[in-house]
Amino acid sequence: MKRTRIIDALKRTDFGAEINVKGWVRSKRGSKGIFFIALNDGSTIKNVQIVGDDANFPEETLKRVTTGACLSVMGKLVESPAAGQASEIQATAIEVLGDCDNTYPLQKKGASWEYLRTVAHLRPRTNTFGAIFRIRHNMAMAIHTYFHEHGYYYFHTPLITASDCEGAGNMFQVTTKNLYDLKKDEQGKIIYSDDFFGEQTSLTVSGQLEGELGATALGAIYTFGPTFRAENSNTPRHLAEFWMIEPEIAFMDQEELMDLEEDFIKFCVRWALDNCRDDLEFLNKMVDKGLLERLEGVLKEDFVRLPYTEGIRILQEAKAQGHKFEFPCEWGDDLASEHERYLVEEHFKKPVIMTDYPRSFKSFYMKQNQATADGGSIGYKGAVAPGPTMQGTDVLFPSIGEIIGGSVREESYDKLMAEINRREMDMTHLWWYLDTRRYGSCPHAGFGLGFERLILFVTGMQNIRDVIPFPRTPKNAEF
Ligand code: 4AD
Ligand code: MG
Repeated sequence: MKRTRIIDALKRTDFGAEINVKGWVRSKRGSKGIFFIALNDGSTIKNVQIVGDDANFPEETLKRVTTGACLSVMGKLVESPAAGQASEIQATAIEVLGDCDNTYPLQKKGASWEYLRTVAHLRPRTNTFGAIFRIRHNMAMAIHTYFHEHGYYYFHTPLITASDCEGAGNMFQVTTKNLYDLKKDEQGKIIYSDDFFGEQTSLTVSGQLEGELGATALGAIYTFGPTFRAENSNTPRHLAEFWMIEPEIAFMDQEELMDLEEDFIKFCVRWALDNCRDDLEFLNKMVDKGLLERLEGVLKEDFVRLPYTEGIRILQEAKAQGHKFEFPCEWGDDLASEHERYLVEEHFKKPVIMTDYPRSFKSFYMKQNQATADGGSIGYKGAVAPGPTMQGTDVLFPSIGEIIGGSVREESYDKLMAEINRREMDMTHLWWYLDTRRYGSCPHAGFGLGFERLILFVTGMQNIRDVIPFPRTPKNAEF
């Protein structure tokens, strides 16, 4: 007989039908010669209850029905007398497909997140991680749906690259060389000409630069793939391997970019509420009691659009009124997560799109705001900044901080080159990027959304290691 997934079995109302379900035992209890097995197959957070009379089954089989064991159950679908479930299965035959003894690491309820990370190979079998990974899947579907329906093309950018998009230098090298026997030139520099690619290569930190090639040909593209950063930052929001979504759009300006960022995030959150109800309700009950309210709340809010300079003024004011920050926040400083969270969680109490950042800590490719005679610049809606600024537009979220990093791109070849020269960047490996500005250059913009940061927000989880099946962080590449 064909197996019925538990999610489908629980929807059926043809009581009396013979069905077969397969799954893993979540719990087994007994009372007055009757046993009750909660069986889960991962298709839904819900278990199906299997009921049977001890007397009708071999004692040997029932002994093997332990927490974690894998079963195939034949039985009759019946209306359930128990509260909280419409149906259950009256077992007629039970086959143990896989035994599970008492060394099974997931026996105890209430294990810590830290402990569960040490058993990442099994934690998807828990209720919480099952819910998280089903939501993760659904968010991926939301993203593809959004862009597909809005006329964007899914554009595949390389993972192995010879260029450093963000220029931060925190890349993982890719080589087939014997590291104990590296050839060096007279200056002591490694010679890569005999390496696999004939030059120094790394894993990409962002597909943006190639994404711009796509956008300036197809009009609007998006990427969705893994990215790698060798940042030695052991925080609850950083991974060495994470997934990023990077749309890039020709003819888009700053205001339209912010509209897109806001509309896109709201679409994803609404998708979760519409498509992941059972899992969200579970997380709302067990992990974060404010989750559903926070998700609904984001849909109602208009995101604040805030020039960086204005943000600094608010932070300075908070400081003057006695608010303590660990890190400095003078004009020109990159914002620390405590600053972002102050603005989002305490000051505005809603998501903020920050724009017009000083060029000192932003990337070379961002569109430069118009300079003023006194060394300042004019940005979003005519806002004046005391120094040179660029049209970076990051989205800051409650409890997450930066969820999106984006910008309008500098389309002028001369301005872009001036910035590249000012930074003394080596463009040998980026000659092709400059061609976009040389041949039919156009205004364009885009952003990168950290997929795991979105999942953090949507699940209410606190640590980014718990929203990706097998996290990669400093000193940890197990599983
Ligand atoms: O702000 P970032 O560095 O921007 C870029 O890479 C641009 N090239 C994107 C673009 O405009 N196309 O990274 C984008 C987002 C961040 O806002 C954050 O959500 C996420 O990627 N992110 C990380 N997520 C997890 N672990 C890390 N180490 C991350 N670094 C960035
Ligand atoms: Mg950023």
